[in-house]
Amino acid sequence: MVGVFRAADIDFGTPNLGAVDRFLRGEELTEEELGDVDSFRKNCIKYVSILTKPSPHTDFFTDFQRYLMPQYNDLFKEKLKDQKIIEIGPAINPIYNTLRENYSIASYVAVEPFCMGMTKGSLNHSIKEDDFARVEAEETDGLSYLLTQPDESAITMSFGVLNRELVKGSVDVTEFYYRFLAKEIHRVTPQDGISIHLYNECGLISVDKVFERVGFQVEKTRSTNGIIAHKN
Ligand SMILES: C[S@@+](CC[C@H](N)C(=O)[O-])C[C@H]1O[C@@H](n2cnc3c(N)ncnc32)[C@H](O)[C@@H]1O
Repeated sequence: MVGVFRAADIDFGTPNLGAVDRFLRGEELTEEELGDVDSFRKNCIKYVSILTKPSPHTDFFTDFQRYLMPQYNDLFKEKLKDQKIIEIGPAINPIYNTLRENYSIASYVAVEPFCMGMTKGSLNHSIKEDDFARVEAEETDGLSYLLTQPDESAITMSFGVLNRELVKGSVDVTEFYYRFLAKEIHRVTPQDGISIHLYNECGLISVDKVFERVGFQVEKTRSTNGIIAHKN
């Protein structure tokens, strides 16, 4: 493993990357190895939390409406119905209204570590009073939030978050963060459920491979850059 393991005042020491790799491939680990994985994962979270540029004024999510909804409407109707939805990184564009109006979702959580003021502003502006009970906003990063969630409890989506250029530091650390994130997404996704992600493909990290490696069957979206990951 190459890369910058000492940056942003985080000392990664000598991480047990063998254990991390086996953890990410779903193998059994000893207590000690699980401890090594946990401390490396905490450092990755710290690293990404310090070095991510927020870039809130984007509208990746409109590609969901423009391209994905016409193509995958029946799939979304089936898979999103009565589900809790976790949106990672909504910034100024939470997708809640679109989902509520079209897919009978049960509840929605916006997970946004950097521009929660904007997210809450958009939600408060656009949602109706009787929606408040089923809409939440959590000011933390996606991985930290997912780690608190039960198995098979929610459908996760993100628009413009898995962009390598969002993180200013090491490609390796960013990739590990995304691999840990994908593993947690897989764990919280219900059996036969899906997870939806649109992003900028920048060539350094292959998001579809990252999701495949944790057990998803990945369908690359047409017309826009993204994946629909199926947990079969
Ligand atoms: C390019 S913006 C996309 C905003 C919006 N989803 C859209 O459709 O345009 C990326 C968003 O992801 C958030 N973000 C970056 N890293 C994150 C992480 N690890 N967990 C959750 N959100 C993150 C940023 O704060 C920012 O709001």
